[in-house]
Amino acid sequence: NPDLEYFLRNAGKADLAEEVRDIGETVRIHYIRQKEQLGLGDAIRLARDHAGGEPFAVLLGDTIIDPPPGQRPGLRQLLDAFEQVRSSIVAVHRVPQEWVSRYGVVEGEPEPFDENLLRLRRLVEKPRPEEAPSNLAIAGRYVFTPDIFDMLDCTPRGVGGEIQLTDAMNMLAAEEPVFALAWQARRFDIGNRVEYAKCFVEFALRRPDTGAELRACIERLLSDPGCPLL
Ligand code: G1P
Repeated sequence: NPDLEYFLRNAGKADLAEEVRDIGETVRIHYIRQKEQLGLGDAIRLARDHAGGEPFAVLLGDTIIDPPPGQRPGLRQLLDAFEQVRSSIVAVHRVPQEWVSRYGVVEGEPEPFDENLLRLRRLVEKPRPEEAPSNLAIAGRYVFTPDIFDMLDCTPRGVGGEIQLTDAMNMLAAEEPVFALAWQARRFDIGNRVEYAKCFVEFALRRPDTGAELRACIERLLSDPGCPLL
């Protein structure tokens, strides 16, 4: 972002300008615009040329994954499981029954060598609680073989009039093995306002550069809600 870098340098904030520059040097970003809001399945379909016939990962930006201390990062856990099964795989986590209608929900058989790995029989997008096949909800991280693109090409519009990735995964599961990994990680669904706030506060409390000051502010606010923070 040359404009931002220029602005920061002029404002005497060379350290921040460097930070922006570093991000640009570490990653290369390609993007494509979705012409119509046709859902997640449609968005992924547009990445076909970019994936170049290779397995690829999908990370939904409104989901923040938080592995427990000492555990591998979420995507690493998923990639390790992918290396083992060499098939498409999705991360899932257990949710309260009344939340299932917010998510894609899966049903499958645990693998004999790993009870956290399920071979999927069926996936349902945003089921009503009484129709949900389980309370294992898709957690916004996936690794796919390129075969998913052929499925997406013939997926009709589903729930909400959108091309649902979950429907394409159902079709894929009928043709080849598809797995779910009930992984070791918490997940914040920041598409939900309360969870967004909780996530923000929890991560900020953990950071050495913000934690102590924020904790003191929150304590002040809780003991005297009328007290201004500034
Ligand atoms: C999407 C998927 C859903 C998944 C969820 C995870 O839903 O369609 O299967 O459980 O992400 O966050 P959306 O959040 O786009 O409604």
